[in-house]
Amino acid sequence: MTTTTHLQEVGAKHVTKGLGRVAGDAVMVRGKGSWVEFEDGRRLLDFTTGIGVTNLGHCHPKVSKAAADQCLNLVHCQCSVAYHEPYLKLIEKLLPIMPDPSLDSFFFWNSGSEAVEGALKMARIYTGRKAIITMQGGYHGRTFGAMALTRSKTIFSEGSGPLMPSVFVASFPFWHQLSLPPSASEEEVIQKALYQLDLLFSQQINPQEVAAIVIEPVLGEGGYVPAPPAYLRSLREICDKHGIVLILDEVQSGFGRTGKYFASEHSGVRPDILVIAKGIANGFPLSAIVSRTDITDKLKPGIMGGTYAGNAVACAAAIACADVMKEERVLENVQQRSHELIGSLNQLRSRADVGPYILDVRGLGLMIGVEFASPSPISVYDPNTLAGAPKSLASRVAKRCLEKGVLILTTSIYEVVRFIPPLNISAEEMAKGIEIFTQAVEEVVKEG
Ligand SMILES: Cc1ncc(COP(=O)(O)O)c(C=O)c1O
Repeated sequence: MTTTTHLQEVGAKHVTKGLGRVAGDAVMVRGKGSWVEFEDGRRLLDFTTGIGVTNLGHCHPKVSKAAADQCLNLVHCQCSVAYHEPYLKLIEKLLPIMPDPSLDSFFFWNSGSEAVEGALKMARIYTGRKAIITMQGGYHGRTFGAMALTRSKTIFSEGSGPLMPSVFVASFPFWHQLSLPPSASEEEVIQKALYQLDLLFSQQINPQEVAAIVIEPVLGEGGYVPAPPAYLRSLREICDKHGIVLILDEVQSGFGRTGKYFASEHSGVRPDILVIAKGIANGFPLSAIVSRTDITDKLKPGIMGGTYAGNAVACAAAIACADVMKEERVLENVQQRSHELIGSLNQLRSRADVGPYILDVRGLGLMIGVEFASPSPISVYDPNTLAGAPKSLASRVAKRCLEKGVLILTTSIYEVVRFIPPLNISAEEMAKGIEIFTQAVEEVVKEG
């Protein structure tokens, strides 16, 4: 029989009911590398990294030390009061890894949502236009502007509208959203998505009135779907043709997650504004809006700001992260572990017993999704429904993984389990995680 601890009672009584938690009422007390420990003594392999945040593992000694040292030197220097050292040194660290040399003007904030808000503001000021195009399935945060762009699940804005006006929704190049099977060719997916965008321009908003198109190069909360490079290149051309600002939201896909510093490097597409957060500081709250000086030159002093924006401790941690990424050759590790993970998942998919229930294995680097078949369609018109498939496979597999020692998340409205392990995870830890995931799939499929 499990007993409820004092802290769990506090949580049950006093923590907002507006939060859901994968680990239920378990209380996390410690994190080290790829592992986390709970109050009840359980030690789990963390394949969530706090949703793509602790990319260098929990409490990386170099990052934690940099933050601790900064704590004893200067904790807070409000960015509208003065420059501080870590802020400027961080810019020097980030400049050489930007996906394009034109991205050389920085503003640091705390969260991804705030950075998205700032990017929208900048695009509107720069273009003098109001309309924003977002993608079906996109996730950009829970503050009002960001929430208006969030189209991955209705729950995120349920009951809290009206949302920010002048937002238009385009189809993300994802077979599921376009009512195609996973076997659809990339060309077909791109053609259908671009056709929808053209319709939007002809029937809903003149492209000359559009300030920005906002897209995640790899859809995160929408199902871990990389946008085909050719699609992103077409978007770039469309933006150039109509004077639209292209905002790439790399809050989840950035900073090494996909095997390159930024997912946009896979397509070579240059954003006008790049939004980063999460892995940039390995758990310290920090986000960044990076753009060109001719865009930020249009901003009057005072337009940007925020009490904790670009906090000194978070910036010091981010500098250490940038160093660790290089010193520990983290990108190489991502590529090796990614190869092992994708290989094992494809092997699972080819098996006669469980394979028929795995619709798709996709992703880049260590941002990998496995989509299971579903017997209960989101829509009766969904051609991918599989009548005999076990119900709720993704959440049941994730729950079983948790029972067996791996913390893992689902994503999207579809049956998707997402792998977001630390970028410096060892081969042994990866193998352990895959073994447990495989067992979980076998058991849940067998139970039907
Ligand atoms: C792509 C993307 N954009 C924006 C956000 C919002 O970031 P935050 O939760 O830090 O506000 C997230 C968070 O998951 C995200 O994945």
